[in-house]
Amino acid sequence: MITMDDIVREGHPTLREKAADVVLPAAAEDKETLTKMIEFIINSQDPEISSKYGLRPGIGLAAPQLGVSKRMIAIHVEDDGEVYSYALFNPKIVSHSTQKNYLAGGEGCLSVDREVPGYVPRYAKITVKSVDLEGKEVKIRLKGLPAIVFQHEIDHLNGIMFYDHINPDDPFRELEDAIVIE
Ligand code: NI
Repeated sequence: MITMDDIVREGHPTLREKAADVVLPAAAEDKETLTKMIEFIINSQDPEISSKYGLRPGIGLAAPQLGVSKRMIAIHVEDDGEVYSYALFNPKIVSHSTQKNYLAGGEGCLSVDREVPGYVPRYAKITVKSVDLEGKEVKIRLKGLPAIVFQHEIDHLNGIMFYDHINPDDPFRELEDAIVIE
C-alpha cells in the first residue's frame, strides 16, 4: 500500500514536469498504480487506518506525486451528501465556465508540508472526459469542491502547483463574480 513515504514533496522534479499520456488500454502496471492511488486516498480518510500508518488525510492524488510522470489521478471527496470517487487515466477538461470559484480557506497538497495562504481561483464548473479503471470512457460534470479537486489534480499532470495560482502581491484579493466556497 502507498504511505506518506511514497509521496514526493515540493522540490522533486517530477512535480514540475508535464506527465505523459497513459497508453490505453492501460497496462497492468498502470492499473495497479492507479488502484493503489485510490485505495490510499480512501485509507487516508479512515481515522483508524490513517492513524495506524501516519497518513495525512487527502481528497485527491496525482501520479506525479508518487514520482510517476503519467496522467493518472485519484479523487475521493464528499460534497453535499454525494461521494465523488474516481480513478482516471488521461483526464481532460473539455469545457468550463467563465465564472470562477475558490475555497475561503485556500488549498493544501500532500506534496506540500507547509501552509500556503491565499485564494486559488478555479473554474466554477468543468466537464472532464477521461477513461476509468475498467477502460470505459467517462464524461463528468462538476461544480463546487469536486470541480476544485479535479482542477488541482489535473494541474499536477501539467507540473502546476496550487500556489502558482495565488496572487503574489495580494493573496487574499477578492475576485469579482467568483463563488466563495466556505
Ligand atoms: Ni496536490
